[in-house]
Amino acid sequence: MADMQTGFWAGWIAVLTLVSLAAMGWLVWSIYFGRDSHEETPEEPVWDETLEEGHRPPPLWWFWLLFGAMIFSLIYLIFFPGLGSYSGLLDWSQGARMADSMENFDARFAEPRAEVAAMTLAEIQNDLNLMDTAERIFRRECSVCHGPDGRGQANLFPNLHDVDWQWGASPEQIEQSIRGGRRANMIAWQAVLGEDGIDRVAEYVQVLGSDAAAGHEGATQYQQTCAACHGADGSGNVALGAPRLDDDIWLYGGDLATIRETLQNGRYGVMPAFGERLDDFQIKLLIALLAR
Ligand code: HEC
Ligand code: HEC
Repeated sequence: MADMQTGFWAGWIAVLTLVSLAAMGWLVWSIYFGRDSHEETPEEPVWDETLEEGHRPPPLWWFWLLFGAMIFSLIYLIFFPGLGSYSGLLDWSQGARMADSMENFDARFAEPRAEVAAMTLAEIQNDLNLMDTAERIFRRECSVCHGPDGRGQANLFPNLHDVDWQWGASPEQIEQSIRGGRRANMIAWQAVLGEDGIDRVAEYVQVLGSDAAAGHEGATQYQQTCAACHGADGSGNVALGAPRLDDDIWLYGGDLATIRETLQNGRYGVMPAFGERLDDFQIKLLIALLAR
């Protein structure tokens, strides 16, 4: 059905184009050569007392200009697309031109890309031009969330320059974070811990890693409910994306109120997957930028 419609409209447009060209040709022709204006000299009307209406035809060079333009249109329509769905003798199309220039583009950059594929991360990190490109890719793709310098945004997006990596700091782990994205899942603990339990455990999380942790009244509940993911000592678990709780680096915040909020409502941070959007070359540059 859709085909029939576009077929009909394409034909209709072709007919319209040709008929208007022919009509214009006839009009121009008839103005110059249609009647012999020297034979009959009708009375010339006079307007506003002094304005006389002349009967002289426009200069002949106008005719050649219009005639030339029409011939040009015809030739153009024979060779290039323009008449409905007829694609022209040259088979020219914007799509083909674009594919052509993409091919050129790929060919031009194939060599540097192959070079980068063979380089180690350290070699890339020492190449100022490549790191410049990496920063540009980061700014374009990642900075909306992680900030232009990768330092994140407190309470929302992680800092990528600190020493604390929720999902692991090795090049392989960073690659996985970028390619596949990350989906953190910490459910809400209100129902399990109760109001008092939340207070106790939140306080315990705050002192984790310090001397005050020993014998703290929140320790038991922490070991029962939290240690499986965050570790008995709060050192985290990169396989689950469970962050360290025993240092001073926080994604959502380390003050008592924010920790309570985290426990009450849960946290579900999502890092989108970039494996489809970026190619191997771009991903390798980003890993070089972030890993150290
Ligand atoms: C099933 C595994 C799991 C369990 C059990 C778990 N967590 Fe989490 N926790 C996570 C994950 C994953 C995150 C990261 C959430 C995110 O990035 O959005 C997280 C985040 C947090 C944060 C935020 C840290 C920050 O940097 O802001 C705190 C605080 C926290 N958990 C405390 C606890 C406490 C206390 C318990 C026990 C009551 C607990 N968690 C139990 C997996 C778990
Ligand atoms: C839509 C926002 C968003 C964009 C865009 C984004 N990220 Fe993320 N990214 C996040 C969030 C949120 C997390 C934390 C997920 C969690 O809570 O575990 C994250 C986590 C990460 C991590 C894991 C950090 C750790 O501590 O282990 C890496 C690495 C990362 N992002 C790199 C990138 C790179 C590189 C780009 C650009 C190609 C990018 N991100 C683009 C939101 C984003």
